[in-house]
Amino acid sequence: MKRTHHCNELRPTHLGQAVTLTGWVHSRRDLGGLVFVDIRDREGRTQTVFDPSNLEKAVFELASSLHSESVIEVSGFVRARPSGTANAKILTGEVELVVTNLEVLNHAEVLPFPVDDPEVASKVNEELRLQYRYLDLRRPEMARNLRLRSKVATGTRVFLDEQGFLEVETPLLFKSTPEGAREFLVPSRIHPGQFYALPQSPQQFKQILMVAGVERYFQLAKCFRDEDLRADRQPEFTQVDIEMSFIDREDIYALIEGLLKRVWKIALNLDIPTPFPRLSFDDALNRFGIDKPDTRFGMELTDFTEDFRQSTFKVFSGTIANGGVVKAINAKGLANATQGQIETMTEYAKSFGAKGLAFIKVENGEWKSPIVKFFTESEKSALSQKLMIEEGDLILFAADQWLNACEILGRIRLYCADVLKTQGRLEIPTNQFNFLWVVEFPLLSFDKEQNRWYSSHHPFTAPVAEDVPLLKADPKKVRGQHYDIVVNGVELGGGSIRIHQPSVQKTIFEEILQIPPDLVQARFGYMLEAFRYGAPPHGGIALGFDRMIAMLCNTPSIRDVIAFPKTAKGADLMTDSPAPAEPKQLRDLHIELRVAKKE
Ligand code: AMO
Ligand code: AMP
Repeated sequence: MKRTHHCNELRPTHLGQAVTLTGWVHSRRDLGGLVFVDIRDREGRTQTVFDPSNLEKAVFELASSLHSESVIEVSGFVRARPSGTANAKILTGEVELVVTNLEVLNHAEVLPFPVDDPEVASKVNEELRLQYRYLDLRRPEMARNLRLRSKVATGTRVFLDEQGFLEVETPLLFKSTPEGAREFLVPSRIHPGQFYALPQSPQQFKQILMVAGVERYFQLAKCFRDEDLRADRQPEFTQVDIEMSFIDREDIYALIEGLLKRVWKIALNLDIPTPFPRLSFDDALNRFGIDKPDTRFGMELTDFTEDFRQSTFKVFSGTIANGGVVKAINAKGLANATQGQIETMTEYAKSFGAKGLAFIKVENGEWKSPIVKFFTESEKSALSQKLMIEEGDLILFAADQWLNACEILGRIRLYCADVLKTQGRLEIPTNQFNFLWVVEFPLLSFDKEQNRWYSSHHPFTAPVAEDVPLLKADPKKVRGQHYDIVVNGVELGGGSIRIHQPSVQKTIFEEILQIPPDLVQARFGYMLEAFRYGAPPHGGIALGFDRMIAMLCNTPSIRDVIAFPKTAKGADLMTDSPAPAEPKQLRDLHIELRVAKKE
């Protein structure tokens, strides 16, 4: 017998029809001499009934012994459920299938964890879920995530195809170009002692495709980075990778706004407003203390450098005299924080390099703080006015060099928001998405330890045209034509207009980044050469596809939207990888190990 319907399809319109369903035993209940089995397939669930009075004894006994998740085929006829027993939670809840024949297609052993009860399943240890990922993926929430991912991937391809993009695959066996994250190396058998590297992104290939005249390229690209993993980072992940020729930043903004509008419509049926607001890197730091601000709540940073320049509180005035700044936030309603909580917050700030975390609690009409005694009336009134201080507020200060002060308070702002959220005092609707472009990043950042400049994004990013003369004179002032797309505090993607003149690219590599010319030649020579044969002006962007899907699925972890993710230690618990190689494989690859053999 072939199945006639999926398990989400039967309705009162099917009453009396003979049907066959196939799927998994979702649950079994023995009640009043009858056996009820909910059968589940990819699409949904249907209740089936085994009644001993109209079934062969052997079939009934088989039904009575069914294990959860065994694979079965059931035939019978559709009837209405007795009145009062309909289940409004499932689409087929008004009917049931009276079984006349049962076949067990495959028996399931007792499961390592249940998949039918969302309450229980959500508490299952993630390592167990990853080890038995095929069971985990049967859970309706996980199945929904995979389906949404597939729908969004298709929607993305359709949208970009409509916009004239070609999907081009680029190699996974690439070459090491260690300018970004640590790479995964792949030893070559044919070339002893030589290695491929897995790409961190198809950056170089997509730029070469522009030189090749492709004009509009995209790829749902697998990228590999050997970094420390977190909830929003995997060693292999997927980007919606895009590159275009003869465009400027505005073209990228418009394209991505259109794409995200389409995706949010497909996935959530939401109409997100475009164009997205734009915020410069400096403003993002000054106001939110981070380059990927969550703008769904306020608690913005306020500057008090001028107000405390002459202060008798030396922590503030001393920092300012040293070229630093004083900034504060008002955590409304957190004056009830205990001494212990303030200490925890201070330790947290110190873990990001803060020297302290001065505070004022506003309680019973009083400013309670070890430092107010140093403040003059005019300093107090500046605080009061700019922070709109009221009863119940907690004011927190950072005095430090500009970037540090911003970043410390940015972290504290997020920390306070989390506290307010857990106390139920800050409500953020799940369907609120605050998109924004962060723009005008500094092209270069200075690495004190190595005493050299490095690219804030990557070395192919073009400087803002009017800043080019500053490249050698005052590198820190040069802004890059770089942009990040941010939503609700998550960096969804980033990109830039690229350098397309070989001479500028060479200057960046050799004179600014101080990469020795022979190394530049060995690593990027082919690119510089390509640029000499007619490279069009071009630019692009990459969206973190997993992060986008996680956001759409309202889950904080990208592991929940990747079919077979790795653990935080980079392991695949299902296949037990990474794993040792056979001595012969190693010999073929010309590799000798120095690690002690694992037992
Ligand atoms: P970037 O390195 O900013 O840019 O990466 C683009 C986006 O990819 C996502 N992402 C990740 N997602 C999951 N796990 C990771 N380990 C991970 N690392 C990055 C983020 C990020 O915003 N070639 C450039 C793009 C360009 O210039 O066009 C690039 O890769 O969402
Ligand atoms: P101190 O005078 O060092 O005891 O510091 C007084 C208060 O100022 C304490 O609450 C410290 O946590 C805080 N503090 C010290 N240094 C800084 C700083 N750089 N920024 C903000 N607060 C600070």
